[in-house]
Amino acid sequence: MNTPCFIRGLGHCVPESVLTNADFERMVETNDEWIVSRTGIRERHVALKGETCVDLCFGAADKALAQAGMQADELTHVIVATFSPDSVIPSSACMLAHRLGISGRMCMDVSAACSGFLYALETARALLALHPQARVLVAACDIVSSRVDYTDRGTCILFGDGAGAVVLTAEDCGAGCPQVLDVLVSADGAMGDLLTVKGGGSGTPYKLGETIRSDFFVQMNGREVYKHAVRSMSSICAELLQKHGLTPQDVDVFIPHQANLRIVEAVGKRLEMPEAKVFTNLQKYGNTSAASVPLGLSEAVAEGFVKPGHLVLLGTFGGGFTWGSGLIRF
Ligand code: COA
Repeated sequence: MNTPCFIRGLGHCVPESVLTNADFERMVETNDEWIVSRTGIRERHVALKGETCVDLCFGAADKALAQAGMQADELTHVIVATFSPDSVIPSSACMLAHRLGISGRMCMDVSAACSGFLYALETARALLALHPQARVLVAACDIVSSRVDYTDRGTCILFGDGAGAVVLTAEDCGAGCPQVLDVLVSADGAMGDLLTVKGGGSGTPYKLGETIRSDFFVQMNGREVYKHAVRSMSSICAELLQKHGLTPQDVDVFIPHQANLRIVEAVGKRLEMPEAKVFTNLQKYGNTSAASVPLGLSEAVAEGFVKPGHLVLLGTFGGGFTWGSGLIRF
């Protein structure tokens, strides 16, 4: 039997500044109608005031710890899912632990782009199986704006910054303690070149004094990414439901990766998930990459969209390609 994994606390944090579609109309050749009809996005929170990955992780972790009724020094492991860490070395997890005032724990970053939260959650479940007394902090954050070319209208309108965090233990917190029932994650590197942030990596290094190139920023083939996102996210969600003998009718709330509304609607349709069960907040945050699902989960719970007893299905898709699904009983 699997070691159980309970969510003891949940939190999220976004930067203060907001970029609206009207702001983008002043920056690139675009318009509100194009952006809303293609993506559903109206605004995004962006770290214009210099907030970093660790800043937002700290904000989300602080709330998750408060909800869990725990002090940071009770944590045994710190995991940060991100593709936009404060620095390559040290990792954002090491920096986050330091900011939380703790040391002497396993701290590591997980890189799986927009699927990062589910990859980190699966890692945390494995750690709980090894160490049932563990108290694991998983934070998922991306400052996508640090890797967005704001002259490229095809990508810049899509993304925002944010963070979500959960505190996980094998020990429950009494009746109604949300339990992660299962997680499935997958990947296919053959399609990696369809969505990239390459520049500055060892495959495409920069020399001292060299001007950064466009490969430093998110580059993608939007149409191809769209097709694979719909296919992969819906199939892994269906696979997880089938594994547990469940149907979409058994699901109370579906929280998909908030990439854009058309992808969300297409996945919902494939899964035959009634629209009323699908949670979206991409209208005000855009695609926040690794933060997207925990930010959605945290808001959906705070707003009462997710209620005690609900079965919640999560779905993600991201660069790599990576994709995943998760089931949580509230
Ligand atoms: N405003 C106005 N026009 C724009 C634009 C913008 N912000 N961005 C692109 N266009 C133009 C293109 O230049 C192109 O013009 P052309 O026909 O004169 O060449 C036209 O709109 C169509 O571009 P295309 O890329 O084919 O549009 P699309 O219908 O595929 O929509 C996306 C573009 C990005 C919204 C869509 O492909 C998508 O959602 N892809 C998935 C992206 C994603 O979610 N990635 C992250 C996954 S984790």
